[in-house]
Amino acid sequence: MNLIAYVNNRFLPLEKATIHIEDRGFQFADGVYEVVACIGGYFLDLEPHMDRLERSCSAIGMTLPRSRDELEELVRETWKRNPYADAMVYVQITRGAAPRTHLASASLKPTLVITSRALPKPDDKKLAHGASGITLRDFRWKRCDIKSIALLASVMGKQEAHRQGADEAFWLDENDHVLEGCSTNIFAVIDSTLVTHPLDHQVLGGIIRRMLIHIAQDAGLKVAEHPWKLATTNLSECMLTSTTNAVLPICRMDGSMVANGTPGPVATQLRTLMLQAMDKLRHS
Ligand code: PDD
Repeated sequence: MNLIAYVNNRFLPLEKATIHIEDRGFQFADGVYEVVACIGGYFLDLEPHMDRLERSCSAIGMTLPRSRDELEELVRETWKRNPYADAMVYVQITRGAAPRTHLASASLKPTLVITSRALPKPDDKKLAHGASGITLRDFRWKRCDIKSIALLASVMGKQEAHRQGADEAFWLDENDHVLEGCSTNIFAVIDSTLVTHPLDHQVLGGIIRRMLIHIAQDAGLKVAEHPWKLATTNLSECMLTSTTNAVLPICRMDGSMVANGTPGPVATQLRTLMLQAMDKLRHS
């Protein structure tokens, strides 16, 4: 498969697309990123993704390396030059390359990398039986609102989930409130209300999280953003969201069933509505 990546002003075959060993992304994880889904050539919520990228850059004292229009055009062009109609397009920005010292010179030229890969589809088993999760005490930093490329804690969490035969690890704060997953947001249905942790320094403002809230409200569901625990009585469902998963019911957590251990009606309905909204894009 001939894949093409955009690296600092050039489109190159993936195997030739390299960055400097003194890139601060490699040396310090000094950078931010975005993952945008493209469905049949239409980008899902590109503007909110670009807003988030701009916020992430600004939070680490950088500006976007190109204008918004230029960046969007590069995202489209990278998608076009690769073979996937349904794709996840990664945009990574680092502070640039320089001899290794913590304090970066303000004159560095940022590194910009864009790739386009196939948008994964959850396997049928996952759809029929739901996803499984484990919980871990949150040991990440206190700026999880920034979409940072420093993902070591998430990698460790995913590895632990995999070791325990689960799909995702979900972070708990010191009071056992459920925050988010390693690469997903999480919702519960409690007393018929769709509940998720509010946006703060402990969670990433997921684009699909935001979309799910709108879809649920449009469907007449009550939505509340407040801290919640798995042990809450009247918790009847859990579900995760992300660009690569849309909405997936979570049916097992830490080896126990969530409610009766099958995908619940709310998650099933919301997944259908979410996929319809995504499919509409394909035909727009
Ligand atoms: N991950 N929380 C974290 C920590 C994430 O890394 C992600 C996304 C999300 C969901 O965000 P969104 O709905 O915008 O995809 C929540 C992406 C998919 C990744 O790192 O590949």
